[in-house]
Amino acid sequence: MTYNVALNFEDGVTRVITCNPGETVLDAAYRAQINLPMDCSDGVCGTCKCACASGEYELGDDYLEDALTDDEAAEGLVLTCQMVPAGDCVVDVPAAASLCSKGAQGAIPGTVDEVNLISPTAIEVKIRAGADLGFLPGQYVNIGVPGTDETRAYSFSSRPGSRDLSFLIRNVPDGLMSSWLVGRARTGDAVDLTGPMGVFYLRPVERPVLMLAGGTGLAPFLAMLESLKEKGCDQPVHLIYGVTNDDDLVCLAALEAFARDMENFTFRTVVSGEDSTHPRKGYVTAHMDDAPVNDGNVDVYLCGPPAMVDSVLGHFRGQGIEPHGFYYEKFTPSVAPAREKVA
Ligand code: FES
Repeated sequence: MTYNVALNFEDGVTRVITCNPGETVLDAAYRAQINLPMDCSDGVCGTCKCACASGEYELGDDYLEDALTDDEAAEGLVLTCQMVPAGDCVVDVPAAASLCSKGAQGAIPGTVDEVNLISPTAIEVKIRAGADLGFLPGQYVNIGVPGTDETRAYSFSSRPGSRDLSFLIRNVPDGLMSSWLVGRARTGDAVDLTGPMGVFYLRPVERPVLMLAGGTGLAPFLAMLESLKEKGCDQPVHLIYGVTNDDDLVCLAALEAFARDMENFTFRTVVSGEDSTHPRKGYVTAHMDDAPVNDGNVDVYLCGPPAMVDSVLGHFRGQGIEPHGFYYEKFTPSVAPAREKVA
């Protein structure tokens, strides 16, 4: 069985590699054109020392105490030349990605398959990538706006492992990408894809998960749910999906299918607009009192516009809740990619 390993570099870049059975992280990274820090590759020098943030792995005992002490190993430090994953892992690398890359991350060609205006405010875009992007569910990619030098950042809404990509994009009036998509894009048009990027991605699910989505911030959660459905999940996963107007709610059939197919997945929708006839009105935070936060033993993932993210953060602080894991991403849909991360 192969496992995904997310390499978090100190400059904020994340690369995802796949480890084959029995393969060390160092070797798998090398196959993926990433030169992790190393010297001896034999458990002697300690140059390859990194920190494993999550996931299971084997280190064996073929390395020297000088390279990695027992205390360091107990704290989660690893030697990537000895580390063989036994599950999906996240590894913090104390080096910049630019220093470890065998070449600059080039753009991958893509072809537009479909553009669907699925609500007045949301566009579903399907793109066929010309090569594997190797992303984790929750990450995003920069898509070049044809005819310009501009790019826009969009989270994948499709499952990892396929070159058939989908995106859920906010239809921004007069927005550069929105205008091209709605007014001029045709099936077969070429677009450049640069990425994947971002550290907002699904970690190994080891406790209940609470997902909070605002508007087209639903996109990364669709990718996460696809991944969970494929791999299986024995922890409760609950999604609260909030929008402004009733007709902003999209992908409900997909969410209902997830709820049908995944025993542990539940979701609710909320609408904040005054004219809404939705049974749950208000902001997401108004419907969180009975959210399954599990006394803090929960991993919270949050993606939405800045005001929503700030509101939810304030809500948790006000409740004195400190989730075990808290990962968030703000997006500003009308300007160049302005994504930030993470707590
Ligand atoms: Fe020397 Fe890993 S490269 S211990």
